[in-house]
Amino acid sequence: MTLQDTEAAIRLASDLIAESDHLVALVGAGLSAESGIPTFRGAGGLWSKVGEPSMNGYEQFLADPAGWWENQLDPAADPARTEFREAIDSAEPNPAHHALAELERMGVLKATITQNVDDLHNRAGSKRLIEIHGNRTKVRCIGCEGRWSRDEFSYDALPPICPKCGELLKGDTVMFGEPIPPSVIDACYREATLCDCIMVCGTSATVYPAAGFPQIVTSGGGIVIEVNPNPTPLSRIAVVTLRGAAGALLPKLVERLRG
Ligand code: OAD
Ligand code: ZN
Repeated sequence: MTLQDTEAAIRLASDLIAESDHLVALVGAGLSAESGIPTFRGAGGLWSKVGEPSMNGYEQFLADPAGWWENQLDPAADPARTEFREAIDSAEPNPAHHALAELERMGVLKATITQNVDDLHNRAGSKRLIEIHGNRTKVRCIGCEGRWSRDEFSYDALPPICPKCGELLKGDTVMFGEPIPPSVIDACYREATLCDCIMVCGTSATVYPAAGFPQIVTSGGGIVIEVNPNPTPLSRIAVVTLRGAAGALLPKLVERLRG
């Protein structure tokens, strides 16, 4: 893609966004790549390196919650996980996170649905944020869906128990085999239904239900804009694709929309 192609794509995308009534961003790991957090798939991806995690993680948690917590709290139990956490802990929001927060402040972006668990959208100032795969800095009750900061609890007795309802607490990050918490999935479908323009940034669009939201938007007559250096299964339904790094392209979109 030439510089001229990129500029034309930014012009078209910003015109379409300006005409839209309800812009939603759907975000994946690529948005945090420029903050030094590896993506999951593709070159340099965490799972390309160490393999995919078990597909029945939630079942394993329910079978032995204390054992799950012991493993989580032991940095030596899984060196790849520890490396990933250290990357998250030392990461700062990048220009792409700031651009989304700015679009929200401008009143242009109505909601951000992120698959990322790294807390960087919050730290950049996004408020209308739906963390569909949870947030690594929190724990959540599997009964009442109460959430607390991970640091608020003592882990002397395992597993930790919900102070409100007595059910089990787990990390807020959604595991394979675990249902998306009801309030979160409801909020996602509400946004997907209201949305007439969905900007899909930095996701391979391979994990459902998130990967299905753009289809809901197009079924309702809305459009898809994609921001990704690589093609994805959504590229063919996108009316315009910004091919490149989100940290470079999203600030340009903000600049143009500011006029
Ligand atoms: P993936 O690792 O599957 O995809 C990352 C995407 O980001 C790819 O399409 C890359 O081309 C793109 N990308 C890389 N660098 C980028 C950049 N600088 N700017 C924009 N895009 C860039 O990550 P996800 O799609 O987020 O779930 O994966 C979805 C889910 O898979 C994750 O939330 C995770 C995993 O199961 C849980 O952990 C629950
Ligand atoms: Zn509870």
